[in-house]
Amino acid sequence: MSFSVLGTGMYVPPNIVTNDDISKFVDTNDEWVMQRVGVKQRHFSINETTDEMGYKAALAALENSGVKAEEIDLILAASISGESISPSVSCMIQNRLGVSCMTMDVSAACAAFVFLLETAAGFFARGKAKKVLIVGAERLSRILDWEDRGTCVIFADGAGAVVLGEGDSYIDSIFDVRGGSDVIDIPQDIGKSPFYEGTQKKPFIHMAGQETFKFAVNAICHDTTKILERQGLSFEDIQYIVPHQANKRIIDFASVKLKLPQEKFYVNIERYGNTSSASIPIALDEMNRKGMLHKGDLLLLPAFGGGLASATCLLKW
Ligand code: COA
Repeated sequence: MSFSVLGTGMYVPPNIVTNDDISKFVDTNDEWVMQRVGVKQRHFSINETTDEMGYKAALAALENSGVKAEEIDLILAASISGESISPSVSCMIQNRLGVSCMTMDVSAACAAFVFLLETAAGFFARGKAKKVLIVGAERLSRILDWEDRGTCVIFADGAGAVVLGEGDSYIDSIFDVRGGSDVIDIPQDIGKSPFYEGTQKKPFIHMAGQETFKFAVNAICHDTTKILERQGLSFEDIQYIVPHQANKRIIDFASVKLKLPQEKFYVNIERYGNTSSASIPIALDEMNRKGMLHKGDLLLLPAFGGGLASATCLLKW
């Protein structure tokens, strides 16, 4: 027993920010960002918190699934940009929904959505949950260095959610964690302890772009190929690869390396930027509402990012 997806939802704040808008803060331009990252515009929160966006995505997913909030046994959330360490984002979403189920956050940066699915699968397997709400919610504008043109043009705000029920749709998964802060680092404030002698690094996203790029392309290619091998399947059996929307060029490189047409990959980064843990559920919700997904379709969801961590799963719609 694992689970099936009963419904999807997403929310992005209404404030749309173009590359030209960002060029007022840092020395950049639309042509460079489109060529190197593939982002045309993104949404940035003006007054909504991370959990507020997560709550709105959750409401949309509940409505889409026909499941009532009171039926949810477990809320799993992920965020690297929540305003509070405690209460966690999942606690705050539970509070906003007015329910009393168990909640838990999982920290795995941009790979987190697949970590959340894996965690949910464990609860279903042990019969500990019949309905699970999963939310990836990010206000990355909060942790961006607005003087670093290498990162502030990439990341964005938004939330995506799915509602899961008992089923057999979670077929296989693969995880690879290479712990270390040398490639991607998002330090917290070190605090004011009179005893601590550590030095403060700016509490923003620090990223070595090219190392991240290589890790991501390798993760997509290796993980998807490995899962298909294990399952005795080929890419022809897969309707769509729905990757973490980190960067259009990463997806393009992976499609060339895997010798797959670009249409095999669902890509929406041009409109939303990189929303970390929210990017795959946002993509799934768009595909679902466009009628692109049919019962029995096989999807590969490769995710990767800070940690470094990568995680890919094979999911039957
Ligand atoms: N606008 C204009 N120029 C920029 C720029 C921007 N926003 N950001 C960097 N540049 C400049 C650099 O300063 C550099 O200029 P120089 O040659 O005069 O020194 C030049 O562009 C090339 O910089 P470099 O960092 O080598 O570019 P790149 O081709 O590696 O592209 C990234 C930078 C960040 C777009 C690229 O490394 C990347 O996509 N990495 C993966 C990032 C990612 O997906 N992260 C999410 C993981 S979850």
